[in-house]
Amino acid sequence: MSSGSDSKAFYLTTPIYYVNDAPHIGHAYTTVAGDVLTRWHRQRGEDVWFLTGTDEHGEKVLNTANENNVSPQEWCDKLVEDKWKPNWRALNIANDDFIRTTEPRHMERVQKFMQLLKDNGHIYAGKFEGPYCVGCEEFKLPGDLDDGKCKVHGKPVKMLSEDNWFFKLSAFIPQLLKHYKENPEACQPESARNEVVAFLEGGVRDLSISRSTFDWGIPVPWDTDQVIYVWFDALLNYATAVGLGDDPTSEGGKKFAKTWPADVHLVGKDILRFHAVIWPAMLMAAGVPVPRKVFAHGWLLVGGEKMSKSKLTGIAPSEITDHFGVDAFRYYFLRAIPFGSDGSFSWEDMSARYTSELANDFGNLASRLIAMIEKYCDGAIPGVAQDEGLTTALAATVKKADEAICALDFQGGIGAIMEYCKKVNGYVTEKEPWAMAKDPANTAELNKVLYNTAESVRALAVLLHPVMPETTQKLWKALGAEATMGDIAHQKISSVATWGQLPAGSRVTKGAVLFPRLEEKSE
Ligand code: ME8
Ligand code: MG
Repeated sequence: MSSGSDSKAFYLTTPIYYVNDAPHIGHAYTTVAGDVLTRWHRQRGEDVWFLTGTDEHGEKVLNTANENNVSPQEWCDKLVEDKWKPNWRALNIANDDFIRTTEPRHMERVQKFMQLLKDNGHIYAGKFEGPYCVGCEEFKLPGDLDDGKCKVHGKPVKMLSEDNWFFKLSAFIPQLLKHYKENPEACQPESARNEVVAFLEGGVRDLSISRSTFDWGIPVPWDTDQVIYVWFDALLNYATAVGLGDDPTSEGGKKFAKTWPADVHLVGKDILRFHAVIWPAMLMAAGVPVPRKVFAHGWLLVGGEKMSKSKLTGIAPSEITDHFGVDAFRYYFLRAIPFGSDGSFSWEDMSARYTSELANDFGNLASRLIAMIEKYCDGAIPGVAQDEGLTTALAATVKKADEAICALDFQGGIGAIMEYCKKVNGYVTEKEPWAMAKDPANTAELNKVLYNTAESVRALAVLLHPVMPETTQKLWKALGAEATMGDIAHQKISSVATWGQLPAGSRVTKGAVLFPRLEEKSE
């Protein structure tokens, strides 16, 4: 993070994922969305902090480690190093930090927070009796079950009867309802907020926040026979990672002041209630500001059901990236599915969009342009020219894309950019520079058309950089822009529509095809 400014950073988090198994494309969907949004905000010139990580305590992870005959810590270390971190590197995720709930920095701050809530009278001793789903790591109500089984996991629940510590969650219902009424942007999309409000209005019980029958967790500071309930531990990661509770003059305290409250907690709708009910109540109890926005996106479905590890329907990201490439993967899910709705993945739909939008509309435009500059202009960008239609359309595109993406409407934002790409293709088709090139009398006009096209492609590369960092970087180099304009990641959204930035004389180079034709997939 760049220092020197005291303004608050744009702080975005993903869920911290359970390490009972390797990541699948559902996890990648959330994390890629977070990466695109934070890259966009960085290009808006903002300070950004992007956190992801892993949720390592609790029965689910403990059981998996036991089944594999290793200690839970060894299991977590292995999964994090061999599966999770490499997966995010492969998908070009530019997170600023990665938190693991087994790290001392997290465990110490969780204990301190828990003690504070106890001292403030928000925690009491009680007995928990009722069903618990280890898959969800959640205390269930009879209505959450179907024939004694968890509706989400389709597996029998456990019946618990334990003396536990309870958090007075019910006391915060009025404050939470007031919060969502006054700040509708605090829970998005609207369907998610409605669900949360209805849930709160239906009444909420106090929450058991400790477990006594196993020890894979953070000890309750005043009762070390118990470990802290995994969700209470996990939710705190968003704040412990940036210095929750540290002395304001310490490094952690300064970091916290600069980062908190989080601007966006990105989550799947499966874990909305934890984030929009329990988490803000915990913060309210401690007198800490609540997050500005919880955004619950929809599910990737397989055969009409939520794709999941436990149902063995998880598709590894590499199955898709091996075929389509990393950037097409990053592009596809955000482009094809309205963020907030469920969506199904199909090879056919992905192949169709890859070919029409990426290979034909975008890739071909870039390769035709570079081939023509080489052929007709000796490889140098011609003198600056301007086309009214393209200039106006670009300004409108940037405005629309910026508004949409900042509102997490990735489909709308990327759609607006791709509409501009179509418009530029239309311009080239209409002007027919290849026909102009046949008569030297047209040279001046030909140069204008090629400049206007190059300048449009310059803008497309910058606008698509957050979505497809690798491909646009290649294109940036091929345009000669890196040498004349500097790093693509430093190009600002606020000035991308300023016409005439690509300097005349920039040397283009023919690189590899951006989106190669797909090999037939043999199945
Ligand atoms: O719930 N479609 O971890 P988790 C879309 N550790 N997104 C999906 C998905 C699907 N089919 N499957 C998973 C946990 N996800 C807790 C979180 S946070 C303090 C603790 C994504 O490994 C989506 O973001 O079960 C979902 O909310 C998350 O993975 C759940 O990951
Ligand atoms: Mg889950």
